[in-house]
Amino acid sequence: MHKKLFIPGPIEVSQEILDAMATPMIGHRMPEYARLHKGVTDKLKKLMFTEDRVFLSTSSAFGAMEGAVRNLVGKRCANFCNGAFSDKWHKVTLSCGKEADPFKVEWGQPITPELVESALSTGKYDAITLIHNETSTGVMSPLPEIAQVLKKYPDVVSIIDTVSSMSALKLPIAELGIDCCVFGVQKAFALPPGLAVFTASERALERAKGIEGRGYYFDFLEFAAADEKDNTPSTPCISQIYAMDRQLDRIFAEGLEKRWQRHLEMAQFMRGWATEHGFGLFADEPYRSLTLTCATNERGVDLAQLKKQLGERGFAFDDGYGKLKGKTFRVAHMGDMQVADLKEITAEMEGLLKGM
Ligand SMILES: Cc1ncc(COP(=O)(O)O)c(C=O)c1O
Repeated sequence: MHKKLFIPGPIEVSQEILDAMATPMIGHRMPEYARLHKGVTDKLKKLMFTEDRVFLSTSSAFGAMEGAVRNLVGKRCANFCNGAFSDKWHKVTLSCGKEADPFKVEWGQPITPELVESALSTGKYDAITLIHNETSTGVMSPLPEIAQVLKKYPDVVSIIDTVSSMSALKLPIAELGIDCCVFGVQKAFALPPGLAVFTASERALERAKGIEGRGYYFDFLEFAAADEKDNTPSTPCISQIYAMDRQLDRIFAEGLEKRWQRHLEMAQFMRGWATEHGFGLFADEPYRSLTLTCATNERGVDLAQLKKQLGERGFAFDDGYGKLKGKTFRVAHMGDMQVADLKEITAEMEGLLKGM
């Protein structure tokens, strides 16, 4: 039985996208691929409101996240940590042999502009990593306010993970001044995993030129050279790129404003349902994620049991990430989902909770 996915990635993939993945194969050095590549990267630029280079990486998000650190950290990196993925990014930065310091706040808290200011004002850092939407905790940090701080530090290259937020709300990458924005496609894009996207500003590419040990697979300069020919350095995941092309058309056909509004409405519905049914919300307003709700288990429900029973009814549900397992649960509301989908899973949950 297929379980309908309400976990925060991978997300349910529509039949239209699965069909697009079955497009007959082409060679990546054929003109057909260059046309596909240019079409996709142009649409991504439109979606992200940027003219910066946009690169397609055949990897999950962490490939490009590691690549960004390898290419862009010269002196020392400030890793802002407020959940499982940002904590991991700090470890990845160190494992790339980079000097780095973690700036940690409690899980459930956002990264604030004040914290970023206090780190950067030391003058020790030439790069930062920050996760816009911490999927482990359902916290969205205030990126526009943080971007204002970053603008005061032109020598600091900003590497921002928008893995679980890109396309769900307006993120104008150029206006925000983000040097490198990274995301995977199995979250709000509702595509099968395996493709990551990243941008690189002129400043980022200049930085990369002076960095040794960039490796090959994620070398930004290799990506930039290949991009001149609307191509990738290595064989790309062409089927996924066909799927991305189709999904971008669907995104623009819905309309960006409508898409953002739909994500807001889904978030409001799910937060409302959780609190009306005796659960709390892990994040405080205004830092609650638009793409998933992380609810606290105030009712002391056996979440592992709830997950099992929902699974038997055809729903994949998340009973908390890492140290939050059993204490919180997460329901995704992103990609192609509608409020009607949330009504389906919450109706099942209501039925099951009565018997618990
Ligand atoms: C915010 C965030 N960053 C990074 C990752 C890691 O992505 P991947 O497993 O695709 O490398 C995830 C995965 O859930 C995530 O939610």
